[in-house]
Amino acid sequence: MRCAGAVWAFLGLAPLLVMSVPPIWTQPEQVHLSYTGVPGSMVVTWTTFNKTESVVEYGFVGGRPFEMSSKGDATLFVDSGKEKRRMFIHRVTLRGLKPTAAYVYHCGSDGGWSDVFYFTALNDSSSFSPRFALYGDLGNENPQSLARLQKETQQGMYDVILHIGDFAYDMDEDNARIGDEFMRQIQSIAAYVPYMTCPGNHENAYNFSNYRNRFSMPGNTESLWYSWNLGSAHIISLSTEVYFYLKFGLELLFRQYEWLKKDLEEANRPENRAQRPWIITMGHRPMYCSDDDQDDCTRFDSYVRLGRTDTKPPAPGLEDLFYRYGVDVELWAHEHTYERLWPVYGDKVYNGSFEQPYVNPKAPVHIITGSAGCRERTDRFNPNPKGWSAFRSTDYGYSRMQVFNATHLYLEQVSDDQDGKVIDSIWVVKEKHGVSAWL
Ligand SMILES: *[C@@H]1O[C@H](CO)[C@@H](O)[C@H](O)[C@H]1NC(C)=O
Ligand SMILES: *[C@@H]1O[C@H](CO)[C@@H](O)[C@H](O)[C@H]1NC(C)=O
Ligand SMILES: *[C@@H]1O[C@H](CO)[C@@H](O)[C@H](O)[C@H]1NC(C)=O
Ligand SMILES: *[C@@H]1O[C@H](CO)[C@@H](O)[C@H](O)[C@H]1NC(C)=O
Ligand SMILES: *[C@@H]1O[C@H](CO)[C@@H](O)[C@H](O)[C@H]1NC(C)=O
Ligand SMILES: [Fe+2]
Repeated sequence: MRCAGAVWAFLGLAPLLVMSVPPIWTQPEQVHLSYTGVPGSMVVTWTTFNKTESVVEYGFVGGRPFEMSSKGDATLFVDSGKEKRRMFIHRVTLRGLKPTAAYVYHCGSDGGWSDVFYFTALNDSSSFSPRFALYGDLGNENPQSLARLQKETQQGMYDVILHIGDFAYDMDEDNARIGDEFMRQIQSIAAYVPYMTCPGNHENAYNFSNYRNRFSMPGNTESLWYSWNLGSAHIISLSTEVYFYLKFGLELLFRQYEWLKKDLEEANRPENRAQRPWIITMGHRPMYCSDDDQDDCTRFDSYVRLGRTDTKPPAPGLEDLFYRYGVDVELWAHEHTYERLWPVYGDKVYNGSFEQPYVNPKAPVHIITGSAGCRERTDRFNPNPKGWSAFRSTDYGYSRMQVFNATHLYLEQVSDDQDGKVIDSIWVVKEKHGVSAWL
């Protein structure tokens, strides 16, 4: 029995031994890039579960490996779930990058290094024609478009990704392990091109703390609202959630509104608008949509569009603001469908002309692209849309956008259900930008 006893002891210990193998708490994971808005820069963000240094080692593709190195900081993020899980979010800003040069990098510390990734420093010329992938509502479960996006990104089809709110479903769940898993899932995209974001309703837990802590967008609003330039576009990212989660502070709504006004004013200074004629906004919840749910965008008096009168003081909406400052294109998500609108303002269609609605449109162009794929699946449309609804699809998919030059912007919709088929496309052509373009 001595022998058997030893076997028992061994077998009994085995699970313990396995469990006591310490995880490598200093190993970097969840690597992702974002652009600071300053030409020649890129932020690398990642996570470790123990505190380590924050270092990015990098070099030119084909050059001497890791000939350069930059240091940054880590902030402790304590999730507010029961377990109060702790993690360190590392941020390193690379500066002085050579526009259009390809770099190879890894990140971490002497406690552990990530895999090797590469990226291209953004071309900072206003005649550059950036290519974007656009989508919202991509989850950890049922991420229908993810594989296609991974492959296309790695093939070099995009310069930037815009994720228009609603991540993971939800980042805070399972004590933020769903957030970790989602950030690991998108690493295959986000470690190669800047992954630019705005918050959605699914990020609301604990006052958007997972969102605010995990991303590194420009400005000092914890990624809630910011703007940046690329090619001939000025891109504004905003939180529509300030209209809904008043419990986190009505003052946020007003702070954002004032900031938007100032940013739009600045972007409209003649010398600025001449250089960056396209003003493009991205926010999670649309002002208009023809889905058959009861969401804000289905209502004539949408909060996002018209503001709220039940607050003290009343809260201004965004439609008038964007119209007055000549916003060209407004990108939204939240509805798990794709919808393109004719140029619209005040619930009325303002086509450029009947034959060419998007040539010199007389109002902003809205696109709703929230069908990337998540556990809530897709939404349904109301059978009788209003006159502003131009094209609708309930296929899973995402959008592509290219800002060609001062006059031409291209948009198309990819259906994942139809094996990557482009099911819709438009050219927006504008000889004139700004509020005078509406006249
Ligand atoms: C590393 O992180 C784990 C998990 O948060 C924690 O239990 C452990 O105490 C940490 N170790 C050090 C040396 O900080
Ligand atoms: C940036 O793009 C512009 C427009 O395509 C091009 O003329 C320029 O050469 C590019 N810059 C670099 C450094 O390649
Ligand atoms: C929610 O977070 C924002 C951004 O940090 C902050 O300004 C606001 O005061 C917070 N609200 C509450 C109720 O803590
Ligand atoms: C706008 O243009 C489209 C496409 O020609 C057309 O179907 C729609 O009726 C037009 N709307 C108005 C109000 O002219
Ligand atoms: C802008 O881009 C479009 C589409 O490629 C092209 O047809 C047009 O000629 C360009 N305009 C200028 C001024 O280069
Ligand atoms: Fe949403």
